[in-house]
Amino acid sequence: MTAQSQPLAQTELNLQSFTALMENRISTGRYQSGQSLDQQSIETLIRLTSLSPSAYNLQNWRFIAVQSAEAKARLQAQAYGQPQIASAAVTFIICGTLNAHRQLHTALQPSVDSGILPAKVQQSWVDAATQTHTDNPQLQRDEAFRSASLAAMTLMLAAESMGLAAGPMSGFDAEGLNKAFQLDTDEVPVMLVTVGYPEKESNRQQKRRKPVADVLSYA
Ligand SMILES: Cc1cc2nc3c(=O)[nH]c(=O)nc-3n(C[C@H](O)[C@H](O)[C@H](O)COP(=O)(O)O)c2cc1C
Repeated sequence: MTAQSQPLAQTELNLQSFTALMENRISTGRYQSGQSLDQQSIETLIRLTSLSPSAYNLQNWRFIAVQSAEAKARLQAQAYGQPQIASAAVTFIICGTLNAHRQLHTALQPSVDSGILPAKVQQSWVDAATQTHTDNPQLQRDEAFRSASLAAMTLMLAAESMGLAAGPMSGFDAEGLNKAFQLDTDEVPVMLVTVGYPEKESNRQQKRRKPVADVLSYA
């Protein structure tokens, strides 16, 4: 194999794996109950999830791993009783963070310390984010939803890659969930993602998507 063909073969492999991952994933709503996920797996999932991009690398998110029976019941009560919360090994509450510009300097410091980001750029990003986000609740909320949604998708793909199943949920009462899990005033619950072991006998298939021609235009 030539030096030039190596990257091409790797690219082909990456595309094959990613295609298989996307074509086979479903939003799982039924899990084998009574299963749990060990702490190491949970932390691997969140480490991979944290590699998601966010504006300015704000990392304006936080994750709550709901795994105890008591916490699952508390969450289920805020999610209109949706049963997958009880049977999933873990449900992650994905929170987006408001006022994220206030912690941007700190969030970027490790990149500056490791020589990846010049301190000048760090300061210019902090200045730009501060200017646009201060007193702009709409932008803060938009950015929180963007970051948390990207994180949610990464979390689901990471779970699938680890042989687990996952499903996104927005069917919950945000106000009630805020109270039940004592979220900070700067936090907004964006999505729930259930993760667990899929039911063995399930024959659920991925739902059909609109044709590319219906959703793609060129400019
Ligand atoms: C933002 C969002 C919110 C969703 N909320 C719920 C929910 O509350 N309950 C549920 O059972 N499924 C929920 N779903 C799952 C969708 O119904 C599912 O992703 C869609 O029908 C496509 O299914 P498939 O990927 O299995 O083909 C949600 C999906 C998304 C992306």
